[in-house]
Amino acid sequence: MQIPKRLEVIGELIHEGAYVADIGADHGLLERYIANHLKDYHILAVENKKGPMSALSAATKDLPNVILSLSDGIEAVNEQYDTIVLAGMGGDNIISILSKYPEKVKTVKNIIVDAHSFIPKVRRTLVDFGFDIEVEKLVLEAGVYYNVISFKRNSNQQNYSQDELEFGYNLSKDPLFKDYKNYLLNRYQKILNDMENSNCKNKKNKEILNEMRRFKSYE
Ligand SMILES: C[S@@+](CC[C@H](N)C(=O)[O-])C[C@H]1O[C@@H](n2cnc3c(N)ncnc32)[C@H](O)[C@@H]1O
Repeated sequence: MQIPKRLEVIGELIHEGAYVADIGADHGLLERYIANHLKDYHILAVENKKGPMSALSAATKDLPNVILSLSDGIEAVNEQYDTIVLAGMGGDNIISILSKYPEKVKTVKNIIVDAHSFIPKVRRTLVDFGFDIEVEKLVLEAGVYYNVISFKRNSNQQNYSQDELEFGYNLSKDPLFKDYKNYLLNRYQKILNDMENSNCKNKKNKEILNEMRRFKSYE
């Protein structure tokens, strides 16, 4: 089975010697990528449902150093794990998984996310939890853009602008940024057109226009 590009990008962010807790490991493709590319790794692959867990178990049975856990979110993650991966989930689920066990979030060094919604809220929450944005990368797959963000615990506590938290940190250097910007601006425009057509000109309309203006000047 071919690994999605977004998981490959996450796999590349994992270093030799890492202790990784992969929450919502599902098909086990990230586990296989890491096992194929690293010599020294330890993975806790977590699923909270029996169905995905049995698929995960079958998919990873030949991989060394992968421990499976049928448990909720980061409940089973202990201090030896330095990296938590939360990929392919809604941003609201990612936030609720992390918020449920704040004492575990305090001991982890890196959190890598691929949130499929509420991305600005995920950035804000992780920064509020005491993390800095180390790397943010765009991935384009089958016409859909994904934001892979790697957060690092940092005592410096960098200050971020509203635009950086909302639109992305250092994203303008990403080779896909120009296309991503056009794609998002077209999406904003489509929402505005739909609102015009449904005669629904209101406060929301102004908010979208304002956001478009800010995003246009974001570079
Ligand atoms: C769409 S899949 C993503 C799989 C893989 N991480 C990826 O990015 O392709 C999301 C998985 O997360 C699991 N999941 C959702 N909430 C969870 C939670 N609280 N704890 C553990 N697993 C969870 C689901 O069962 C599902 O298998």
